[in-house]
Amino acid sequence: MKNTGKEFVRNTYYDRISASPQELGVPQPTLELPIPAGAKLVELPAMEEIYHPQTTLIRSIVERRSLRRYAEKPLTLAELSLLLYTTQGIQDLREGSRFQTSFRPVPSAGARHALETYLLINRVEGVEPGLYRYSAVKHVLVLIKSGTTIADAVTEACLGQKQVLNSAVTFIWVAVVERMAWRYVERGYRYLYLDAGHVCQNLSLVAESIDSGVCAIAAYDDAALDQVLGLDGEHLFAIYVGALGKKPNKE
Ligand SMILES: Cc1cc2nc3c(=O)[nH]c(=O)nc-3n(C[C@H](O)[C@H](O)[C@H](O)COP(=O)(O)O)c2cc1C
Repeated sequence: MKNTGKEFVRNTYYDRISASPQELGVPQPTLELPIPAGAKLVELPAMEEIYHPQTTLIRSIVERRSLRRYAEKPLTLAELSLLLYTTQGIQDLREGSRFQTSFRPVPSAGARHALETYLLINRVEGVEPGLYRYSAVKHVLVLIKSGTTIADAVTEACLGQKQVLNSAVTFIWVAVVERMAWRYVERGYRYLYLDAGHVCQNLSLVAESIDSGVCAIAAYDDAALDQVLGLDGEHLFAIYVGALGKKPNKE
């Protein structure tokens, strides 16, 4: 076995990390990626307006299982809105004198929230299939590319795992390195992965409340997935994937 993992852990000990851009007075990176001018936006129902399914947290925790086969039934836009809000939605945006901080349903190291949510949408009522990004600041979907061929490309990048192709929606969380490294430099890489785990867990638990399930996916071809998403693989890279769909009918 190579020492890659051990070296990563050692080299991110506090006494080995560099002075941070924040300490050096570099301005804070933006809270999220910019929305390109003229991009098609899909408004999402606000959290206050959507149906809040009744289920207990304990029940969601004990009943959650990875789900790799899904019913044909699409998600509603309100359900997608609920999933996005409870994984990455902005509940509070505080403006400090030197930087802004967002607070969301998931914890994040230093509240840096250095993840973006990309979505492969296959079956959501009223939304054309394609690749989207979630703007948490505006609570809207930003269309990146419409069409159904993107589903094949994402599936292939996920080593042909069919749950991606068959999902109603596949969430692809993307790490924005600068946003975390601005404060935590090399050690920030650890935090990106830890943060992604929290987000996927929220997705799995909230999915239970809408009769859906998730399969977390980390077995993918990094370079291929980054290419499909239009990421450079260095400043921005896919860090974790969650395929989601309605539970199949019990026989
Ligand atoms: C970090 C991580 C990566 C995973 N990657 C995959 C994957 O690429 N493909 C897959 O089918 N399942 C994947 N899984 C799901 C696990 O196989 C699953 O959680 C495990 O078998 C336990 O089953 P349960 O989730 O139903 O409790 C992953 C889970 C985690 C936490």
